[in-house]
Amino acid sequence: MSLALDPAAQDLLFREARTANTFADEPVTDEQVQAIYDLVKYGPTAFNQTPLRITLVRSPEARERLVKHMAEGNRPKTASAPLVAILSADNEFHEELPALLPHFPQAKDMFFAERPVREQSAVLNAALQAAYFIVGVRAAGLAAGPMTGVDLSGLQKEFLDADHTPLMVVNIGKPGEDAWFPRSPRLSYEDVVTTV
Ligand SMILES: Cc1cc2nc3c(=O)[nH]c(=O)nc-3n(C[C@H](O)[C@H](O)[C@H](O)COP(=O)(O)O)c2cc1C
Repeated sequence: MSLALDPAAQDLLFREARTANTFADEPVTDEQVQAIYDLVKYGPTAFNQTPLRITLVRSPEARERLVKHMAEGNRPKTASAPLVAILSADNEFHEELPALLPHFPQAKDMFFAERPVREQSAVLNAALQAAYFIVGVRAAGLAAGPMTGVDLSGLQKEFLDADHTPLMVVNIGKPGEDAWFPRSPRLSYEDVVTTV
């Protein structure tokens, strides 16, 4: 009763949504990914900096190059998912800031002139956007399998550049057979929330 979101949507996005470990063959189209991005791009970031960048790994050749950087246990999932995305943070997001924050274009030089500050901000805010993206994948009726079990510096050299910090790899698709581990417990409200 306290939530405005339709209970079926609550289930789709959270209660029934699981992290898939196997995938069906059904392809994931660029149109689906665009619909997901066009939904989740409205999730908030600091100064609207929107630093998330998404690399879709589509060609078999690129998939092979990616799989070799994955931790052993993650390789079969990444090899078989219909689509795999590399999520990264753009440390030079400030170049877009005047366009993204037209009411306060000075923010670029006032707050983000220094690279270490930008890197910290980019990683935090791109990680937020990665979470929005995972929920967006679920909103499209698909399952996501986010993974940080990957050689991130190898991934950066293989697919990105020094201005992009890799965050995670996400397998995307309809779940396949035996797609889930048993659901693990979550911390309760009482465990997590403190009121002062
Ligand atoms: C940032 C992130 C990194 C993860 N890395 C891995 C990974 O490398 N390998 C893996 O099998 N699962 C990985 N997972 C999956 C988590 O273990 C899984 O989402 C969590 O246990 C919740 O599972 P559930 O959605 O089925 O309840 C990762 C999840 C997240 C969000």
